[in-house]
Amino acid sequence: MSGGPAVPSLADGALVTEATAATELVDESAAIEVPRAVDEVVVLDYGGQYSQLIARRVRECGVFSELLPHHVGVEEVRRRKPKAVILSGGPASVYADGAPALEPELLELGVPVLGICYGMQLIARSLGGRVEAAEVGEFGRSDLTVLDEGRLFGGMPAAQTCWMSHRDTIFTPPPGFTTLAHSSASPVAALENVERGIYGIQFHPEVVHTPYGQDILRAFLRDVAECDLTWSAASIVEEQITRIREQVGTGKVICGLSGGVDSSVAALLVHRAIGDQLTCVFVDHGLMRKREGEQVVSAFRDHFKVPLVAVDAEERFLKRLKGVSDPEAKRKAIGAEFIRVFEEEALRLEGAKFLVQGTLYSDVIESGGGTGAATIKSHHNVGGLPEDLEFDLVEPLRALFKDEVRAVGAELGLPERLVWRQPFPGPGLAIRIVGGEATKERLDVLRDADFILQDEIRKAGLYRDLWQSFCVLPDIRTVGVQGDERTYGYVVVIRAVTSDDAMTADWARLPYDLLEQIASRMINELREVNRVVLDITSKPPGTIEWE
Ligand code: XMP
Repeated sequence: MSGGPAVPSLADGALVTEATAATELVDESAAIEVPRAVDEVVVLDYGGQYSQLIARRVRECGVFSELLPHHVGVEEVRRRKPKAVILSGGPASVYADGAPALEPELLELGVPVLGICYGMQLIARSLGGRVEAAEVGEFGRSDLTVLDEGRLFGGMPAAQTCWMSHRDTIFTPPPGFTTLAHSSASPVAALENVERGIYGIQFHPEVVHTPYGQDILRAFLRDVAECDLTWSAASIVEEQITRIREQVGTGKVICGLSGGVDSSVAALLVHRAIGDQLTCVFVDHGLMRKREGEQVVSAFRDHFKVPLVAVDAEERFLKRLKGVSDPEAKRKAIGAEFIRVFEEEALRLEGAKFLVQGTLYSDVIESGGGTGAATIKSHHNVGGLPEDLEFDLVEPLRALFKDEVRAVGAELGLPERLVWRQPFPGPGLAIRIVGGEATKERLDVLRDADFILQDEIRKAGLYRDLWQSFCVLPDIRTVGVQGDERTYGYVVVIRAVTSDDAMTADWARLPYDLLEQIASRMINELREVNRVVLDITSKPPGTIEWE
């Protein structure tokens, strides 16, 4: 693989700051390789809200799937030799100017095609069905009546619920098609033409509100497309090991380890493939959570025997953060310092030619899809790097979604604590000391408070249910009274959210008893803290972090 000028960032994007944005690196050779050994289904994305979810659901059925933008062209689809093609939903009306069109050749590839929502309407319209804007749309839960089981509904009840989201409606199927189901607002809610291998469903099988959705997808994949349902995230381990060996040969490889699940899994996979040709660099910037650094070192150096350079850079980072209270200035300072430290270590490791990055499939999709000339997004905080620091990228997780990375991690024996670690921002605790400077004293208070929070949340069995749970320490003091004495101490904020992807989030309804236990431990165990408050803001309008 020929790499572009790679930027050393922690492999799981831990240096990502949304504010400082990403640098786009074009690396034409890094598109997802077509995995020849397994069946593949291509999901064409027409802009639907749930397109990624369709690809994930197909994989959950045991078939490898790729999500490609609808405009990739039929040749790109053909090149992948898919066993089936799925056309996703999309926000447009099939009649709107500029609405994505259907390339008729897609229906002539010789493999079954399943259109979902907009995808189905495209099929119906282009083959002569009657698709029109209905007076009322159909949004949300809907009752589905199966008229004919056809190939998709075998053994399923005639009355089901499903999730709809459309205004255009199919009133008459194209000639040669059979209507399989209707709903109250959709006379044609599912259709098929077995001879031509073309199927369509108006509702969304990929969302949990369609209880038989996964069964319908499985029927399409197994019975119609005759796919082997044997793919699993763990099954890519061997394939990746071979690929990594081919790519790096006898070259030296470097990996920035953060303790996050992506960099950890990427590092372990590479180590499995090439052993001690890999050196991991773990920069402890002093902004980590309590004992996190020790856990990384003990897992990688002691347990997995991965060559690891652990750099204690706390002092450097604290010095750099002196007098800095603006959030963006903090991020920039940390990013710049990180790159400096990493660069020093990389130069010490003479001859390292490759850099491991934990790029995930969602990053690939976001930056243009796994098409022939994918644009890779590489996150970093500061501008260009010195010319002499160039690496070819090794990206063993490019084909995987986050939950699949966790499955691979578990397969590789990564400790449960690392496999299930909640996301943690690259600038660490520094951006959780708000409105002021991240000093050692404040960081220690925050670290201790955070430790209590995590401990109680884990004990309550809620850690995995939360997207993130953490503490924030505002740079203010409040008055309190403890043991007849007036106190003037820190306020700790508890922030716990549920979310799927951090784009939106809801504040978690933690049980009152748990909150009381957390607050009382913080106040009793931490001398500097005399008040604990709970953040009950969702995103939007709030953000997850406070700055
Ligand atoms: P917000 O606060 O924007 O956060 O709702 C969304 C997600 O991004 C994480 N986050 C960061 N991650 N560097 C990171 O690596 C950062 O500077 C940063 N700021 C926010 C945040 O923890 C949440 O998961």
